[in-house]
Amino acid sequence: MPEPYFKSDGVELYLGDCREVLPALGVKADLVLADPPYEETSLKWDRWPDGWLEVAASVSKSLWCFGSIRMFLEHHGEFDAACWRLAQDIVWEKHNGSGFQTDRFKRVHEHALHWYRGEWRDQHLDVPRIASADPSDLRTRKPRVSNAPHMGAITSTEHTRRDGTRLMRSVIQVKSMKGKALHPTEKPLGILEPLLRYSCPLGGLVVDPFAGSASTLVAARLSGRRAIGVEGWEPYAEKAALRLSQAPLDLFSEVSDA
Ligand SMILES: C[S@@+](CC[C@H](N)C(=O)[O-])C[C@H]1O[C@@H](n2cnc3c(N)ncnc32)[C@H](O)[C@@H]1O
Repeated sequence: MPEPYFKSDGVELYLGDCREVLPALGVKADLVLADPPYEETSLKWDRWPDGWLEVAASVSKSLWCFGSIRMFLEHHGEFDAACWRLAQDIVWEKHNGSGFQTDRFKRVHEHALHWYRGEWRDQHLDVPRIASADPSDLRTRKPRVSNAPHMGAITSTEHTRRDGTRLMRSVIQVKSMKGKALHPTEKPLGILEPLLRYSCPLGGLVVDPFAGSASTLVAARLSGRRAIGVEGWEPYAEKAALRLSQAPLDLFSEVSDA
């Protein structure tokens, strides 16, 4: 049985290859939240780990996966093979770009795609609603019903709310970690937190196979979820453990719903 590299307050971090550690732990989770290597940099660890999607499928029926369109197109056969079905996507819009090419549009976004296995109706979904300044969100609207199961069974109650809230939009603006990151591709807590709250119940367990600086673990702890992370490179695991030991000082990064 692998020994945790760090363990405290409902979070555990393991050092090793997620394809070995997770099966050895035999863990079952409400959600896998993954930020895998996109294979788009010359960083040593930035290589797609073949087989990780099968491992994720043995852990949970729900997967949020960060990545680029190029990455998803290149590996779509592996999502299919592991029976992951696409439910939806969100766009993380950053305040600055991450690309270095000058012959194309300045890239200021990344994607996270939501995949599920089994029946959509068995998914835990805590639909994100936020306060709305739009008066039309106080009016009754006609229900629209979709036949596609992953679009959700839209009930009339959902569309006749008069509570001044609206569904959170799928384009989410959160400042990147530029200038304050512990890890070269660190995700801000503000983009992880809505995904966690939506797909993992309070007190539930989220697994991050590519923990990096432990952002998912910190976001889980701050939002009342348990978390297990695996990181393959010891220098990052070391930084992650240090961060987790100081995590009560972490605050959610700025988030605005575009
Ligand atoms: C995109 S980064 C994740 C960054 C993380 N979301 C954060 O906010 O810090 C991917 C991480 O996966 C790690 N990694 C790559 N292959 C791995 C494997 N097979 N098992 C576990 N970790 C791996 C890399 O060392 C890297 O830190």
